[in-house]
This record gives sequence, structure tokens and C-alpha cells, in this order.
Amino acid sequence: MNIEKAYNSWADQYDSNENKTRDLDRKATIETLSKYDFKNVLELGCGTGKNTIWLLKKASRIIGLDFSQNMLNIAAHKINDSRVHLMKADLTEDWKTENSFADLITSSLTLEHIKDLNHIFSQANKKLKKNGLFFISELHPCKQYSGSKAQFKMGNEIKELEVFTHHTSEYINNAVMNGFKLIELKEWFDNNSENETPRLISFTFKK
Ligand SMILES: C[S@@+](CC[C@H](N)C(=O)[O-])C[C@H]1O[C@@H](n2cnc3c(N)ncnc32)[C@H](O)[C@@H]1O
Repeated sequence: MNIEKAYNSWADQYDSNENKTRDLDRKATIETLSKYDFKNVLELGCGTGKNTIWLLKKASRIIGLDFSQNMLNIAAHKINDSRVHLMKADLTEDWKTENSFADLITSSLTLEHIKDLNHIFSQANKKLKKNGLFFISELHPCKQYSGSKAQFKMGNEIKELEVFTHHTSEYINNAVMNGFKLIELKEWFDNNSENETPRLISFTFKK
């Protein structure tokens, strides 16, 4: 299913569906980013603003980019804060935000929908200040290899979204090629159960 249309259809249920991936991402984001100070944040694929609301605990300005108008509408309805600027934008194009603006870029559960990671890291390098951080949390490649992909229910039908499998090395190699170094890599398990396949992988890169 076309990704933008799918999120427009999913938007109404996104926050309320049972969704272990969404919930574990919240934990990964908070546990990782609590360690850092940041003021200016660029959030890629901000969706309904699940993480935007937490980022506001520290940030003085957040720009949230997303191409699903319905996801953005829900975020705008939930977040009524002058520090947040939500913009409809396709991340596969050039990001029309100020260069060297951000001290933190975050991206949760979005890059599985984007084929060319080189473009993402190259844009991220332009938008980040020196020493800025780029936090990524994604469905773990092992989950992707076994066929897991973003999906939601519409009536009795399961709608699967278009996804691209990204290997761990692909994230790291594209980051390094674009001037980043890896400072933290973590794998996240359902119920902390480390005998099972990890659900998520997270990377923190530094420019
Ligand atoms: C699974 S949701 C994640 C939302 C939010 N980050 C969270 O963790 O709850 C993925 C989001 O990425 C957005 N997205 C996917 N591909 C995109 C693209 N090429 N440009 C902009 N947004 C995109 C979708 O519209 C959707 O809101």
C-alpha cells in the first residue's frame, strides 16, 4: 500500500491500536535521549507527535517533518505549543529547513519506509550543528528478515505498508560516509526478554 495514503488511513487509530513496536520505541527514545541536553530538534516522521510531546520536556524548538497530513493533524490537535512547528514534507526530497539548525535529529520507525539512507544522512549532516546528535530507532533488521513490516487493521482487512529492509551495516556505513560517528547502538526486546529476537534497534550518531 502507498505509504502516504496508508498513514492517512491509519492516523485515526495510530495512537490507540495495540502496537508493541510503537510502545517500545517510546521507551527506547526516552531512555536514550534522557542522557542528553538539546534545544533545537528536527524530528523526521513525527507522525501523531508521540515522541514530540516528550521531546518538549527539554527542547526550546522542534520542527516535525512528515508527509501524512492526517498524522500531522492529529499531532497539531494534541500539541498546542508555540515551540513546535509541524511541516508537511517528503523526507526523500531536500528538507526545506534551516541548515545547521539542530543539535538533535530524531527519527523513529520511519526509515523502514525510505529506500535511500544515503540521502537521509546527507540531509541530516546539513541540518545538524557540529557535535549534534542523530538518534534513530527502527524495527530490528532481524525482524525485517523474518518478514515483519508496519501494518494496521482496517475493518477485517490487514493493510501492509511498503517497507525497505535495511541492514545494520547499511545504517552505519551510510552514517560514516556522511561524516557521522556511532556513539551508541542498542537492541530492544519485548518485556526485556533477551532470549527472543530483538524488536528494535537504535543508533545514536554524532556529527
Ligand atoms: C510508524 S510512523 C512513526 C511516527 C512517530 N515517529 C512515532 O514513533 O510514533 C512513520 C511516520 O513516517 C512518516 N513517513 C514515512 N515516509 C515518509 C517520507 N518519505 N516523508 C515524510 N514522512 C514519512 C509517516 O507518514 C508516518 O507518520
